[in-house]
Amino acid sequence: MSDQRDRREKEAVARSAAGLVTDDQLVALGSGSTVALVAAALGERGSRARFAAASPATALAATSAGLTLVDDTTTARYDLAIDGADEVAADGWAVKGGGGAHTRERILISAADRFVCVVGASKLVDRLTWPVPLELQPFALASTVERLPGVVLRDAPPTADGGVLADLAVPLDDPAAVAARLDATPGIVDHGLFAPDVVRELLIAHGDHVEHRRR
Ligand code: 5RP
Repeated sequence: MSDQRDRREKEAVARSAAGLVTDDQLVALGSGSTVALVAAALGERGSRARFAAASPATALAATSAGLTLVDDTTTARYDLAIDGADEVAADGWAVKGGGGAHTRERILISAADRFVCVVGASKLVDRLTWPVPLELQPFALASTVERLPGVVLRDAPPTADGGVLADLAVPLDDPAAVAARLDATPGIVDHGLFAPDVVRELLIAHGDHVEHRRR
């Protein structure tokens, strides 16, 4: 996949996603380059919806596009969440967190009545292969790392909430079992495995054509 095609697909899917947003809605935006393009497309449409942003980068993209942000500490529910993914498998499991914002993204997605995942077709895979992104508590980090053979701390600044980013190379034949193990591991704030019952609606760009897939 060329960078140019990748960018075109992101732009196509971003325009489609922006078309789903109505002016009366409260919308949660995730993070990443696709979401930044969604914010830009919404700005071009002159959207009067209100938005929460999962990362400082998305907040900047949204305000630069002229969008209105709400206070995420007092807004409980969202009509819609729009976010990207790093991989989406045929069984519906997805890996997110390449940009390190998966903890906040899950919080916003869980608070939304509808989640639309926006990807280019190159992100579709038979089975997940990515290392699983993790956000770890800085407290007693060495103890958490010891519980996670194969984990690599990411050479990245702390998250917006002070978490430590890491990636766990682990076989993903059974993502549900891995997710359950990570959910039960002390010191993990959150991981980047998203279950099929969360990733039920996808906008997928195949070149300039955007497929709307519902499970
Ligand atoms: C960030 C994410 C992103 O959605 C994911 O990394 C995809 O990013 P991009 O749109 O730049 O390809 O999960 O935490």
